[in-house]
Amino acid sequence: MKKLAILLTAAAVLASAASAQQADVRPGYHYGPARNWMNDPNGLVYYDGEYHLFYQYNPHGDRWGHMNWGHAVSRDLVNWEELPVAIPETDVMAFSGTAVIDWNNTTGFGKNGKPPMIAIYTGHDPKTERQSQYLAYSNDRGRTFTIHGEVLNAGNEKHFRDPKVFWHAPTRRWVMVVLKAAANTAEIYTSPNLKDWTHRSSFGPAGGRGKFWECPDLFELPVEGGAPGETRWVLSINLGDNAIGGGSGGQYFVGDFDGEKFTLVPGWPAAPQWMDYGADFYATISWNDMPKGDPRRVWMGWANDWRYAEAIPTWPARGIMTVARTVALRKTAEGYHLLQAPVRELATLRGTPQRAPALALSETPVPLPIEGGKADIELELDTGTADQVSIALTDGQGWQTRIGVNPTVNEVFVDRTRSGPHFHDGFANRHVAPVDLKSRKVKLRVLADESIVEVFVNDGRQTITDRFYRGGGALTWSATARGGKATMNLTAWPMRSMESRK
Ligand code: FRU
Repeated sequence: MKKLAILLTAAAVLASAASAQQADVRPGYHYGPARNWMNDPNGLVYYDGEYHLFYQYNPHGDRWGHMNWGHAVSRDLVNWEELPVAIPETDVMAFSGTAVIDWNNTTGFGKNGKPPMIAIYTGHDPKTERQSQYLAYSNDRGRTFTIHGEVLNAGNEKHFRDPKVFWHAPTRRWVMVVLKAAANTAEIYTSPNLKDWTHRSSFGPAGGRGKFWECPDLFELPVEGGAPGETRWVLSINLGDNAIGGGSGGQYFVGDFDGEKFTLVPGWPAAPQWMDYGADFYATISWNDMPKGDPRRVWMGWANDWRYAEAIPTWPARGIMTVARTVALRKTAEGYHLLQAPVRELATLRGTPQRAPALALSETPVPLPIEGGKADIELELDTGTADQVSIALTDGQGWQTRIGVNPTVNEVFVDRTRSGPHFHDGFANRHVAPVDLKSRKVKLRVLADESIVEVFVNDGRQTITDRFYRGGGALTWSATARGGKATMNLTAWPMRSMESRK
């Protein structure tokens, strides 16, 4: 009895310490479930006025396991509402995958003249670890699914996962890109009906390699600065380890796709091209079936890194997504590269802007007119004679996260080496993106949300996404220049939380 009382007291103390910490660090405009564990975004699809965000979810705890498809919906890609689990674990776990709207009812699962929503995902058998692709369908706008069963396997292959499926209009067929994860190859299949699949080609290994390739995507984009009417295909592939931020991360390839085979553009670099230079942008996939007349390609990532994912000090939920980002393709003298930006709808959460034009910066930190930890900040920096210019978020205990530029080595950085108490050896790092600072000028957009920063460099030519955890107390902002003088124009909007968080 006495033992039980001691245990209960200990549990209560732990829970209250954890909840105090969570109250500080829970983001307001980044999606995460109210409780439990979340990883990859799955089945991003738009239908009938709603954007769907399904995701890897463990309803039984705050660590990975028992994978289900959790579910949230939004009318604007910004305000998300959590719904009940959409696809449960059965004899197999429901691993990552895609959702599509079967407009032509090629599956025959439509009802009352309405197209079904189809989920194609990996069934993971926890006993044998065999992985194969499953189909489930919904006739109630993604609220509930009927599991049809396995539609594609590769024998007893253990690491055959993460199908991305889309309708390829020119060939009037469905296309699936799915990974032989351990072999680091992407396998392309086609199907007339989402049930019968034919293997067409393989891509890889190429670029960045790791223990596993995970969560691919394949989509066509117009080329800004390219030949008139030029479009190219982007193949994005995530790496479970060995990415630029030190752990898991994403790379992309640019090429052509004829409905069966992906071919790199001539001269595509052998070195990996990274989607993001931070540690917390992973398993990124894009929306299928964007609303008619909306040409944007929009994607979202899981803001975490497998190295420390299960150790991050948040409670009672573990895992958030990044904001939804548009992704575009630009051609310059250096070749093809991606540009990312937060979706324009995010501006609906902005409050009254604070402006600080022509701030003169030196060694003495200048306080910035930004209140609290939720802000959307635009900075134009002229590094002048300084060799480092940075802004810092400091908490009530002196823990500090810095975002800055270093013109002498042409880099933008996020430094979270002292952002909060130690919780994992893999976390306290500085992340760096290359940027040309010969002109000594750079534009940064910084989305801060209590325990995450998303930094967009020069209109999203590079991004750095990093979570940070703190000691306690309110956050304050300041700016500094080292080794000389610099100037900065700042516009900062306080950000509101999404509706469901108020
Ligand atoms: C990526 C991943 C996927 C897999 C899922 C399991 O983070 O490992 O490859 O489908 O998570 O939860």
